[in-house]
Formats: sequence, C-alpha cells, structure tokens
Amino acid sequence: LPDPDVAALTRADVEDLLPRPGNESDKYRRGVLGVAAGSDLYTGAAVLAVGGALRAGAGLVRYAGTHEPVQQVRAHWPEAVITPLDRPSIEHVGRVQAWLLGPGLGTGDWAHELAARVLASDVPVLIDADGLTLVARDRSLLRRRAPVLITPHAGELSRLIGVSRDDIEAARLEHVRRAAAELGVTVLLKGSTTVVAEEARPVRVNGTGTSWLATGGTGDVLSGVAGALLAQGLGCYDAASVGAYLHGLAGRLAARGAPLTSAGVATAVPEAIRSVHGEP
Ligand code: APR
Ligand code: MG
Repeated sequence: LPDPDVAALTRADVEDLLPRPGNESDKYRRGVLGVAAGSDLYTGAAVLAVGGALRAGAGLVRYAGTHEPVQQVRAHWPEAVITPLDRPSIEHVGRVQAWLLGPGLGTGDWAHELAARVLASDVPVLIDADGLTLVARDRSLLRRRAPVLITPHAGELSRLIGVSRDDIEAARLEHVRRAAAELGVTVLLKGSTTVVAEEARPVRVNGTGTSWLATGGTGDVLSGVAGALLAQGLGCYDAASVGAYLHGLAGRLAARGAPLTSAGVATAVPEAIRSVHGEP
C-alpha cells in the first residue's frame, strides 16, 4: 500500500507550481534574491549559487561578499547587483524577497555575524553548507519569525540533529521528518534521492537526479535554484521540491551519460524548465 505520508513529485505538480512570468511581470515581481555566500578562500560556491539563481529565473540577484568572491561573481555574472562588504552587514544590500545563506561562506566570527544579520531579516532564508555549520553550533540563529529552508546532505544533517550519518542514511524519511518538526524548518535532504519534509505535509521524494551529480559544487547550484524559487514567492516546501526536481533534471540533461560539471548543471536549468513548461 502507498504510504499517505509520502508523495512522489510529478512533472504535472511541477508544471502547476513553477511560476511563468505574466504580462504584468517586472524584475522586482519576478523575485529578488539576496545571496550571502563565498569567501576569499571559497569563491566558486558564490559563482555557482548566483548562477543557479539566475538560470532558475530570479528577477534580480543581489550578491554581497568580500573582495575575492565579489571579483569572481562580477566576472562571471554581469547580471548580478553586487555589494562588496568590508564588514559583516547587509544594510547596503537593498530590498530582497528571500536570502540564500551559506555556500562557501566560511565558519568564523565574520561569517557568524553575517549569518546573524541575514537571519534577523523578515524574509524567508535558505541555509546551506557553511551556513548549516554555523547553525549547528548556534541554534539560536534559527529563532526568527519568517520561514527557513535548510538543504543539508546527510553529514550536515547529522551535525544539526546529533544523529549519526549512517543512522540517517538507514532511515532517511524518518529522520528528515523528525528534523523538520524538531527544528521548526523545512528540510531538503540531499543524496541519491532528495527528500523534502515540512511539518503537517507529506514527505516529497524526488528522483529526477543522476549519480553524475555526485561532484563538487552541484549542491551550490541547487541552493541557487531553490533560492530563486523562494524569492519568486513559492513557499519553502514547494521551492525545495520544485528546485530539487529541476536541478535533478538539469543534471540529467547536462550529463547525458557522461561526466558533468556543476557549472554545466546551472547552464542546463533553463532546458529543464523548458521541458516542464514546453516550448512557447
Ligand atoms: N545520485 C543523485 N544525486 C546525487 C548523488 C547520487 N548518487 N550524489 C549526490 N547527488 C546530488 C545531491 O542530491 C545534491 O543535489 O548532488 C548534490 C550534491 O550536493 P552537496 O552534497 O551539497 O555537495 P556540494 O556542496 O556540491 O559539494 C561537496 O560540500 O560538504 C561540502 O566539504 C564538502 O566541499 C564539499 C562540498
Ligand atoms: Mg554542499
């Protein structure tokens, strides 16, 4: 018998949920995403996250970071609006409809302070990678009114809920559900299949991916894609599941049976969207 608390995400679901710009759209209404990611040590994560967000149809991406990632993001994405930071503050970034926090951000005091500022905002926040390490160390960061979506792999979830990686892998649905309830957030757990849990909703399972996605940086692209959907007004549960669906499909399109790169996955996201909505 099918488990009523588990739902496979179908193409038809995604077609219904995925926004299409209407005549009245402008870049602000299409979703402004703030990205707080990257550091002088890890610049690629910022480039990939911004790329994922732009390819997923964000109306505008506002990137905030230190000197090195700012140089890289500027070189790769002239479309992004950039705020170089000399201190960990978002006061000059401008209005955003959602934040993506964490990929390559680092885990020191500077990153902690920036995370605290982002999470003190009143818009939804997607937390990934180093952002999850910061939250695992300081749970008080999660005390906020606006929604939170976290996108851990099993190792990152392990640190957050104090359950071993092996135990999580042995019972993914159970642990992802419990994590969502205990932390009071929406959880997208990555791996060979991706599962999304939110309290009082069935766990959504996505199987569009391919094992070619198991390469560095694809997680950063996913965070950008799901972040763009959050900024476009989808709730955490829908942004996570539609994001996972498109990212997995983009991975398949990028790989076609051979190795992909994470930048290639971002490049294939529009093709994934086209295959959901159809040609105009
Ligand atoms: N089948 C399908 N999809 C997979 C598989 C698989 N076998 N393995 C991984 N994936 C997908 C995941 O579902 C996820 O979307 O690839 C993506 C990997 O994301 P992450 O685990 O976040 O990896 P990423 O951040 O890109 O790179 C690894 O993360 O934890 C850090 O230090 C680590 O630098 C490393 C980086
Ligand atoms: Mg990652």
